[in-house]
Amino acid sequence: MTMINIEIDGQQFQAKPGTNVIEVADEAGIYIPRFCYHKKLTVAANCRMCLVEVERAPKPMPACATPVAEGMKVRTSSSYAVAAQKDTLEFLLINHPLDCPICDQGGECPLQDQAVGYGGHASRFIEKKRVVPDHNIGPLIQTEMTRCIHCTRCVRFGEEVAGVMELGITGRGEHLKIDTFFEQSVDSEVSGNVIDLCPVGALTSKPYRFTARSWELISHESISPHDCLGTNIDIQTLRGEVKRVLPRENEAINECWLADRDRYSYEGILEGGRLNEPMIRTEEGMVAVDWRTALNKAADGLRSIKQQEGADALGALVSPASTLEEFYLVQKLMRLLGTNNVDHRLRQVDFSDDMTAARYPGTSIPIGEYSKAKAVLLIGSNIRKEQPLLSLRVRQAWKNGAKITAINPFDWNFNFDLTSSVVASPSSFCKELAQVVSRVDEESDDVDNIHRQIANTLRNAEGNAIIVLGQSAISHPQFSKLKQLAQKLAKSTGASLSILPPANSVAGWLGGCLPHRESNGIAVNEPGLNSSQMIQNPRSAYLLFNVEPENDLADGVQAVLAMESAKFVVSFQVFDEIPEYVDVALPITPFTENSGTFVNCEGRMQKATAAVEPNGQARPGWKVLRVLGNLLEVPGFMYSDLNEVLNEASLESGFCEPQQLENGGEVQFELVDAGHNADHFELISEMPIYAVDSIVRHAPALQATADAAIEQAHINPDDLRTLDIDDGASVAIQHSFGQLQMNIISDTRVPASCIYIPAGAGNSVLPATGTMMQIRREA
Ligand code: SF4
Ligand code: SF4
Ligand code: FES
Repeated sequence: MTMINIEIDGQQFQAKPGTNVIEVADEAGIYIPRFCYHKKLTVAANCRMCLVEVERAPKPMPACATPVAEGMKVRTSSSYAVAAQKDTLEFLLINHPLDCPICDQGGECPLQDQAVGYGGHASRFIEKKRVVPDHNIGPLIQTEMTRCIHCTRCVRFGEEVAGVMELGITGRGEHLKIDTFFEQSVDSEVSGNVIDLCPVGALTSKPYRFTARSWELISHESISPHDCLGTNIDIQTLRGEVKRVLPRENEAINECWLADRDRYSYEGILEGGRLNEPMIRTEEGMVAVDWRTALNKAADGLRSIKQQEGADALGALVSPASTLEEFYLVQKLMRLLGTNNVDHRLRQVDFSDDMTAARYPGTSIPIGEYSKAKAVLLIGSNIRKEQPLLSLRVRQAWKNGAKITAINPFDWNFNFDLTSSVVASPSSFCKELAQVVSRVDEESDDVDNIHRQIANTLRNAEGNAIIVLGQSAISHPQFSKLKQLAQKLAKSTGASLSILPPANSVAGWLGGCLPHRESNGIAVNEPGLNSSQMIQNPRSAYLLFNVEPENDLADGVQAVLAMESAKFVVSFQVFDEIPEYVDVALPITPFTENSGTFVNCEGRMQKATAAVEPNGQARPGWKVLRVLGNLLEVPGFMYSDLNEVLNEASLESGFCEPQQLENGGEVQFELVDAGHNADHFELISEMPIYAVDSIVRHAPALQATADAAIEQAHINPDDLRTLDIDDGASVAIQHSFGQLQMNIISDTRVPASCIYIPAGAGNSVLPATGTMMQIRREA
């Protein structure tokens, strides 16, 4: 490529053709003031703050919209350029309130900075300033639209990046304003990014409002624990209290974005009702005790069950949001106690290919490659709500012309269009995928066949396609078959296969928090029970590590029954709701108070450090496990710091290698005969975005969003008619172990003979996806 020679402020540079002057200046560290320009958005050039002097140009030129040209000479701070910048600022300040003392943007406001650098001593504008009334746009974002300078960054973000037009422009001239359409709330899964983008205090964080000034805050680098991306965050604190969470730029992972779940979950930790001291169950109920008493009781309880019934009577269930060190220590403790009954894969029910599975479920390509794909097939993946920032990359690929297709159990709404889509019941899911696999080698041009269309998009991508298995695939009753079919499809089309597990699950795999493998994927001689077996065949004692069984396990109903039948349950937990079945509750710290290692879906290891001191008597999980190990007199638990644990685990990460194909890739599966009885329906359940772990379940602002307002069961309109039940009516939904009472609504997104109930809807405890449910009209 022929490079272009330009001069900026007397320095010579070479730039690619088509680059704008501001990009070259930014690269060289030459500062040009700006409001509307943002490197991730298209150029709007509407604020004019970046005006610079370009030799032989008849007027000042906007640096963000002026492409470089051979021999161009630019002066960014000549008196001519500065005069233009000052004039622009004077216009911008005409209607600006300059209420910096009560503005949350104060101290980190480009307008404030530039008013100091380029503004006059006093305004020449003596007329009345315009005032823009505000209205409530939801629980996440506070508006002060009088401060808006109409840069349109927020509008462009919605249109170009998020794919949700939450904010738009109405009016012209002095009546121009930024507003929502039809008074809607602004709370899509990535809406909070407009707060970072807004160069003034027009859009600020509602939960953070008036709680701190930016110059008082201390930043702590950390990693978000809510999905498998390993999003880089800055936790900002004031006098030992978390005040807000902001994105930490990492182009390879989260770019400069942050999902709302990662931005606002800290509120759950502050306001969720923390367990502040250890508690034990006595005849009078739960009573607070000191750590020594609680840990002795926990150790005695586990020891005595082991002595009476053997180590196999013990089981450990671990949250997938734990750190690598916590995963490692729980499995080490259980194994030294004599059992392999330990698992963190709480929403998985089919483990039949455990022995041949790859070292961990993850992606075999870097996250950044998603936006370059030519085709993506989503299998059981609501990627937009499960991995919001990865969904932005898929949207980018779609904008570049990629064909996105899906085989899903629900017709989810994405921020990109689907070229072809199959919505299948759990019992027909494998069959639908198998049909795509069988069409890959056919030469027919039968474009009406949807399976052929999906196969063609992958094949035509010539090796630049991605097959994604999401949460609904992982919790499918035939997950291993889906995985093998997807692997076969990937092999025959040259696509790469990604499995997107929850939270820090990759660290759980590598750290050995599995019944069949120790750390680093070393197979154990006699595999223990997986999470599903541990609740189908209840154990006498459980160690729960940050797990709420009724909400976190795929079969919440069976999980609760198993806990209730246990003789002893010790629960490491963050919050103060202690179920009846818990005998010892040990307060542990959430991610803001905890250090540890995260491994994302591409195998990238990242360390997080505690931002604040533990709340009350809560302690980091690894320290509590260390002392419990000592009290149980198991060897090798004398760690003095976290690094010793990590060094002992001595993990090798790196990209996920492919799953081993069994039988040369021939996949056998049974079709479940479902839906023959007019009142029997297959349950489809998914973990909603703001229910994935106990922290987000406690976060007030997130729980007030539209995505958290999930109260009803959904059913296909034809089935509702057949049942002769009114839309919105209250029904009894029965399964083998109990009954739910909730309203049912007609929804064309649900496949026939199925009932869709998101986990936790209407405070329900649900059995696993695929369970047959009977629906009865309430008398
Ligand atoms: Fe001051 Fe900036 Fe707030 Fe305007 S947006 S009131 S300049 S801090
Ligand atoms: Fe720009 Fe902020 Fe106004 Fe949006 S609200 S146009 S980001 S100043
Ligand atoms: Fe160039 Fe706004 S930054 S015109």
